[in-house]
Amino acid sequence: MRIAITGAAGQLGRALCAALQPVHDIVPLDHAALELSDPTSVSRIANTGADLVIHSAAYTNVDGCARDPVQAYRINGLGTRYVALGCQRIGAALVYISTNEVFGGDATQPYLEYDTTAPVNPYGASKLIGEHAVRECLAAHYIVRVAWLFGGERNFVRTVLRLASERRELTMVADEIGSPTATPDAAAAIAQLIDTGVYGTYHIVNAGHCSRFELARTVLDGAGRHDVVVRPIALADYPRPGRVPRYTPLRNLAAADLGITLRDWRDAVAEAVLALR
Ligand SMILES: NC(=O)c1ccc[n+]([C@@H]2O[C@H](COP(=O)([O-])OP(=O)(O)OC[C@H]3O[C@@H](n4cnc5c(N)ncnc54)[C@H](OP(=O)(O)O)[C@@H]3O)[C@@H](O)[C@H]2O)c1
Repeated sequence: MRIAITGAAGQLGRALCAALQPVHDIVPLDHAALELSDPTSVSRIANTGADLVIHSAAYTNVDGCARDPVQAYRINGLGTRYVALGCQRIGAALVYISTNEVFGGDATQPYLEYDTTAPVNPYGASKLIGEHAVRECLAAHYIVRVAWLFGGERNFVRTVLRLASERRELTMVADEIGSPTATPDAAAAIAQLIDTGVYGTYHIVNAGHCSRFELARTVLDGAGRHDVVVRPIALADYPRPGRVPRYTPLRNLAAADLGITLRDWRDAVAEAVLALR
């Protein structure tokens, strides 16, 4: 298949290119090649002649989106509509990468694909507008929600290791719970999913969930940094420009029914930490 990938230079985009390159004809679209907020991106997508587009680019800075919700809407909402319309023009299928942050965070069980969305910040709201645009424009779509990605240059795992190289004591939020997910694992699962032709909404995350505090402790233990103390704090003690949904683990039900499952997050973290040592 000819597959165009937006956000090809981003954290997940790089993993997608690596996973799909051996089998498919890849058209990588980085930010220089495609500006989502520009309506001409409809033609840019159509000109790729792709059979399938994976739309991974987004304005992912959650605090930046909170400071400038209109820009978040332009890039993640309208921009996704342009990508979907480009696909419509050439009859391409679309994989839209969405987020755990479309959910409200007040659940007590991991969210299923069909649970009601209720974003609490402009990032989540703009990504949800993107989901709506995809559903409105194209029948041939996969909406793939991922969460707490690690595997690239800028992510929580690397931040914890950097902080640990600077100080002996860290504070981490203990009441924000999510599904840490390795980008190579998500990319491999998406590679399987696009071969099925079973369009719909999916949760592609490593199995299990944890708090930021537990994730930090697991990263440090994996790196042999038992000397670094991690102190738990509450979300309320860590003021940010936008609200953060408290509890957003995702449960993979729909992809698992197709035989697509991901390993436990602890195994994925252990492997990522080892690779960085
Ligand atoms: N990271 C997470 O934990 C997480 C969690 C849930 C869902 N997601 C979703 O997963 C996808 C991939 O995330 P990621 O972590 O790989 O993000 P990332 O590393 O920030 O990559 C996003 C890419 O999008 C590009 N981009 C930003 N604004 C753009 C614009 N206006 N036009 C075109 N390209 C633009 C960026 O280019 P520049 O850097 O040059 O601006 C970057 O290469 C996103 O859709 C995100 O919403 C991520």
